[in-house]
Amino acid sequence: MQEDIESILIHESTILARLDEMAAEITRDYAGKDLTVIAILNGSFIFVADLLRRIPLPLQVDCLSVASYHGTKSTGTIHFRQTNLPDVKGRHVLILDDILDSGLTIHAISTRFLDGLGALSVKTCVLLEKQVEKVKEIRADYVGFSIENKFVIGYGLDYLEHYRHVSSIGVLKPSAIERVAAESKNKFES
Ligand code: IMP
Ligand code: MG
Repeated sequence: MQEDIESILIHESTILARLDEMAAEITRDYAGKDLTVIAILNGSFIFVADLLRRIPLPLQVDCLSVASYHGTKSTGTIHFRQTNLPDVKGRHVLILDDILDSGLTIHAISTRFLDGLGALSVKTCVLLEKQVEKVKEIRADYVGFSIENKFVIGYGLDYLEHYRHVSSIGVLKPSAIERVAAESKNKFES
């Protein structure tokens, strides 16, 4: 697995140090408020686990599963895997996602919570933000790291469901991208 990685972009220790800062800021901002955290699966699972354990506030956690990417490309549409959304009436909502890329995912989800679900406020928090032109003009309220426009894996982020458990954030070798794509195609066709 390590041999598939071309370079490490952000080391695990750097990520964890940044989470201390983000958690302190979120703790200050939400003290005394009824907070519901919505984790966007699958990519945010490690980020959420590490961040929330640094926030000593009463809060509720719910998960939403959405998909927009296939391989290294966004499909441009957001697919909600469940029809029942969490009850956030009268609560402050903080959406946690792994990465803000085109902005489509965060836009679709925050719109759902603001329209008709009765949330008092909706804010977003992402570990990574890509420096790309957004399809939807959306900014995250809390951003861990701003990164260049490269496809990254690790710390929850996948390539065709591989590499989520790599502890740091890195870039794959082109040979690994090709091999995993070929394996996935074979599996699909057989
Ligand atoms: P957006 O809707 O274009 O902002 O894309 C956000 C979603 O696409 C994220 O939640 C990720 O699951 C996925 N994604 C975007 N960029 C990357 C990447 O570089 N590596 C892995 N997944 C990514
Ligand atoms: Mg993904």
